[in-house]
Amino acid sequence: MKTKIINTPDLKKAASRSKRETTFKMASELNKKEAQGLLVGKKYYIRTYGCQANVRDEETMRGLLENIGMIQNDKPEGADVIIINTCAVRENAEDKVYGEIGNLKILRKKNKKLVLSICGCMVEQPEILNRLMTTFPEVNLFFGTHEIDQLYDLLYQALTKEERIVAIESKAGEVIEGLPSARNNHYKAYVDIIYGCNKFCTYCIVPYTRGQERSRHFDDILKECQALIDAGYQEITLLGQNVNAYGKDLDEGKDFADLMEAVAKLGIPRLRFTTSHPWDFSSKMIDVIAKYPNICKFIHLPVQSGNDEILKIMGRRYTRERYLNLVKEMREKIPGLSLSTDIIVGFPNETEEQFMDTVSLVDIVKYEAAFTFIYSPRKGTPAARMEDNVTYEEKVKRFKLLVKHLEKHIEEHSNSLLGKVVDILVDGPSKTDPNMLSGYTDENKLVHFKGDASLIGTITKVKIVESHTYSMIGELYHG
Ligand code: 5AD
Ligand code: SF4
Repeated sequence: MKTKIINTPDLKKAASRSKRETTFKMASELNKKEAQGLLVGKKYYIRTYGCQANVRDEETMRGLLENIGMIQNDKPEGADVIIINTCAVRENAEDKVYGEIGNLKILRKKNKKLVLSICGCMVEQPEILNRLMTTFPEVNLFFGTHEIDQLYDLLYQALTKEERIVAIESKAGEVIEGLPSARNNHYKAYVDIIYGCNKFCTYCIVPYTRGQERSRHFDDILKECQALIDAGYQEITLLGQNVNAYGKDLDEGKDFADLMEAVAKLGIPRLRFTTSHPWDFSSKMIDVIAKYPNICKFIHLPVQSGNDEILKIMGRRYTRERYLNLVKEMREKIPGLSLSTDIIVGFPNETEEQFMDTVSLVDIVKYEAAFTFIYSPRKGTPAARMEDNVTYEEKVKRFKLLVKHLEKHIEEHSNSLLGKVVDILVDGPSKTDPNMLSGYTDENKLVHFKGDASLIGTITKVKIVESHTYSMIGELYHG
C-alpha cells in the first residue's frame, strides 16, 4: 500500500513558540457529507491511553463520529473504524500500544475496509511514528493531536484511497471551537480551558506533542459550563496541562482565579481543576479556592523532586523553599485541604542525597495522595541527552522507599477520616465489589458503600467506618 503524507512531525517545529497570541478557528466540515455517506450506521471503537486531555479528545472524536450516525462498539471486533488514542509521557504507556496494535492488525487482514488508526501523542514523535509505520503496515491512518477536527476528511480519504494516510503537523496550534462532544459520563465533565504547555521541563515530551499554551475564550468556557449545569451535571473539572497559565496568551484581562470564580458562581455543585504548576500558582487563586464551598478542597500540585539542583536541571522554575511556602499558604488558607503530587524518581545522575531531599519534602508536606514514576527518557527532550549514572535497580530501590513514606502519610490521613460524615458523588457500582457503590469525596478519596442504584450521579452523605490506604468503606448516613 502506498503512503500519502499530508504532514509529518518535526520536533524543532513542535518546540517553536514564535508568537504569543492564540489563533481561533471553527471546526472543519470538509468531507463531512461524504464521510457520512460511507459511515452512517457503521460502528466505531476508540481506545484511549494516558491523561485527561486524551480522554477529552476521545469525547470530541466520539461526538464527531456520532454526528454522522456512527454507533459505538464496546470491542474492536466488529468495528468499521478503530482509533487507538495514544500517550507518550513514559515508555510503559507506549509499550501497551505496541501490544494492542499487534493484536488488532489481524482484524484488518480479515476486513480490508476497516480503518485502523493511531492518533495522540505517540505519533507526534518522528522516530516513534517511523517505527509504528514500519512495524504495522496494517495501520492505514495516522493523525496527530492538532488534526482531530479534520477527522471526517481523514476518514474519507482512508476509505476511498488505496493509500495509508499520514497527517501529523507539528505546530503551535489553534483553539478550535464548535466541535461536538459525546461525553463519557452524565454527571461528571471535563472542560478544556487551556491547551498545550510552554514550560519545557527537560524530561517532558508534552510541550512537543501538544503545542503552545493557548487558552479558550472566557465566555466560551462559561457557556460550556452553563450548558453542563443545565443538563444536570454535578461536577466540572477545568482541564489543562497547566491551568494556572490560563489567560496569559489572551487579551481579555482574566486569569485562572477569575475563571474559577466565575464558574463557581454559576452554581455547579463541585468544581475541580487539574493540573497546576507551582510556578504559576498565585495567592489570588488560593483565596478563590478558600472562598467558594463548591470548589473542591483538593489540589494536585506536582513537585517532581525535593532537591534544588534537580529541580533546576528539570527546568521547574521553583525551589524547594518556594514550593514549601506555597504549600504552607495553601494549608493555612484552606482548612481541610488535600494535596496530591507527581514525583519522578531517578532523574539522570540523581544522587542518593538528592533523592533523600525528595523523601524529606514528602515527610514535611504529608501528601494525601501521590503518583510516583521512575524517570523514563523521552527522545528529543534535553534530559534524554544527558548521561545517566544511576542504575535501574537503584531507581527501583528508591521508588519503593518513597512509596513507603507516601503511603504512611496517606494512611494517616485516611485513618483521620474514620467516623466522619462525608459527601460522596456516587459514580456507580464499585469496581472491586459489584454489590457496593463507590464514589469520591470532595478531597478525592475513594469510598465504597452499600446503597441503591438510584443514588448514582447524586451527592450523598456517607459515614466512614473502615479505612484502607487507597480507599475507604462507608455507610449511608441518614442523620
Ligand atoms: N519520565 C517519568 N515521568 C514523567 N512524567 C512526565 N515525563 C516523564 C518522564 N519522562 C510525569 C511527571 C508529570 C506526570 C504527568 O508524568 O511527574 O507530572
Ligand atoms: Fe510536562 Fe512540565 Fe508541561 Fe507538565 S508543566 S506538561 S511536566 S513540560
